[in-house]
Amino acid sequence: MAQLPTAGRVPVQGSGHGEEQTLARLLTVAEYEEPARARLPAPVWDFLAGASGTETLPRAVRQALDRVRLRPSVLVDVDRVDPAAELLGAALGMPVGIAPMAYHRLCDPQGEVATARAAGAQGALFIASIFASRTLEEIAAAGAGPCWLQLYWLRRREALIQLIARAEAAGFRALVLTVDAPQVARRLRDDRNAFTLPDHVHAVNLDPELMTASHVRQDGRSAIVRHAREQFDASITWSDLGWLRRQTSLPLVLKGILTSEDARRAVDAGAAGIVVSNHGGRQLDGAIPAITALPEITAAVRGRCAVLVDGELRTGVDVLKVLALGADAALLGRPALWGLAVAGEAGVSALLALLREELTEAMALAGRPRVRDVDRGLVRVLG
Ligand SMILES: Cc1cc2nc3c(=O)[nH]c(=O)nc-3n(C[C@H](O)[C@H](O)[C@H](O)COP(=O)(O)O)c2cc1C
Repeated sequence: MAQLPTAGRVPVQGSGHGEEQTLARLLTVAEYEEPARARLPAPVWDFLAGASGTETLPRAVRQALDRVRLRPSVLVDVDRVDPAAELLGAALGMPVGIAPMAYHRLCDPQGEVATARAAGAQGALFIASIFASRTLEEIAAAGAGPCWLQLYWLRRREALIQLIARAEAAGFRALVLTVDAPQVARRLRDDRNAFTLPDHVHAVNLDPELMTASHVRQDGRSAIVRHAREQFDASITWSDLGWLRRQTSLPLVLKGILTSEDARRAVDAGAAGIVVSNHGGRQLDGAIPAITALPEITAAVRGRCAVLVDGELRTGVDVLKVLALGADAALLGRPALWGLAVAGEAGVSALLALLREELTEAMALAGRPRVRDVDRGLVRVLG
């Protein structure tokens, strides 16, 4: 393969040994954040870390998570604890996945290939973004576990049709349509940095002509936002979902649902799953935290479709809490990119292994040896 230009990541000194030492010192997912920040150029870090508007939503989500408390059961046989799970017919080593995020090559030259490989190795789901910086075929070949493809609804529908055909042929197992982004919200850090994609990072699965605006710098404006305004179809409604479903036999998952009304509509529209999400606080500023919306949504859905959730999930205890509130799986966003920036595939793998260890421990201490033992009685949401 041709030599890839250097991405933002500064290689850890020396060979794998130095990397191993760095990783051995990082004992929680949160501890990956600072070394990741130190390794990435400031505008790339701002793009990753930033949120929309006042940037207060991620904190509100964290506070909501902290108000969910566990009610453990004691004297339960937890000699063997197994976090294995099933999601849309696929077996997972744990009910965890990597949320779709654009342009992993901003963090590591191997990009999505490294992330997908690490996810597969750790028994986690991988969701590739429509703006992936490695090809769908490379990603599917790298990932030993299930891979799904996320789509934004582009004005150019033929581009969607082509992507879907490629995803099916490559072995992707579901499509995730992101529905909370008819346009990309203003992110002030990106505006201030006039954030523009570096020359070596491209949305390689789309026609370059569709992506031009992401590479053109304009002072005071994010190129990502301008690009989305040009290319996203903001006119689509529930009635368009039939068209999308007719293009594919793959299950459809809707990402960005925050109310029980929309969750019911998603089920009625034939969605196989939904992702309860605030888009990492990057879309509607002031929205209800996904974790707060989760109980009403799982109650409305009543098992008729898979429910995934993301946003500020950073520990095994966080994962256990969302399972207890009725989710089938938890997605990790930014932490996967921290792992990638710190040590590429090995970094993501180590971070996911940590999460699995924490989840297994939390299940043991909560008296829930298998995922199917995790029930609503395990949590109380404090007022
Ligand atoms: C750098 C970055 C890029 C993202 N790109 C996408 C994307 O292409 N499609 C999408 O549906 N969501 C995207 N998201 C949102 C994530 O899928 C996810 O909802 C969010 O990051 C979860 O929150 P967390 O980062 O706190 O874990 C992106 C998030 C980040 C941080």
